[in-house]
Amino acid sequence: MIKPMSQKLNILAISGSTRLQSSNHQLIKAVASLAADVAHVELFDGLTNIPHFNPDSDHDNPPAEVVAFRHRLREADAVLICTPEYAIGVPGTLKNAIDWTVSSMEFSRKPVALITAGTSGFKAHESLLGTLLIIESNIATTAQIVISGVKTKINQEGVITDTATLEKVQQLIEALVAVVKEEPVPLMPRPSLF
Ligand SMILES: Cc1cc2nc3c(=O)[nH]c(=O)nc-3n(C[C@H](O)[C@H](O)[C@H](O)COP(=O)(O)O)c2cc1C
Repeated sequence: MIKPMSQKLNILAISGSTRLQSSNHQLIKAVASLAADVAHVELFDGLTNIPHFNPDSDHDNPPAEVVAFRHRLREADAVLICTPEYAIGVPGTLKNAIDWTVSSMEFSRKPVALITAGTSGFKAHESLLGTLLIIESNIATTAQIVISGVKTKINQEGVITDTATLEKVQQLIEALVAVVKEEPVPLMPRPSLF
């Protein structure tokens, strides 16, 4: 049961899928609906406009789309990433956007929840989790889940039809909110660089 809070959190949702009928978009809708009493979930729709990452452009005057992305991340109380797996990896558009934040550190100490939803998803999940942790995101142990066979677990209206998945998503929301509120929840350990 997700308890309502006095002031709603602002959660920025990022989908790793740019597909129109994306299951990951549906999952974001599901989270927005399940968390409606405690949070506004806003979809970041500018992922495909972010230029290819180039360290030479990652200076005092980066591209406007990057400035806007960084600003949205800084303003958010928390970030929700829902992504598919492509060729046992993280979709390039998503990884590209995250690479722009390594030097500017918007993910550092940011409460983050990660859902990897695809046919399988485990490889991309492991990889992206490692990336998010090395850039210092605060991720509760129950705020990161893989949803394999996602197309059989959510419908086009954004309703999660699989009971076990629904429970995990509810736990993920609770854990994300707890991290924002700085409640004592177990966090994923940070990996060492080398
Ligand atoms: C180019 C491509 C590569 C894919 N590779 C994988 C993969 O390695 N592992 C996996 O679990 N699913 C893979 N899939 C399937 C997607 O994860 C699955 O279709 C997912 O539902 C897509 O997410 P979406 O519905 O949000 O677009 C791939 C799909 C595409 C288009």
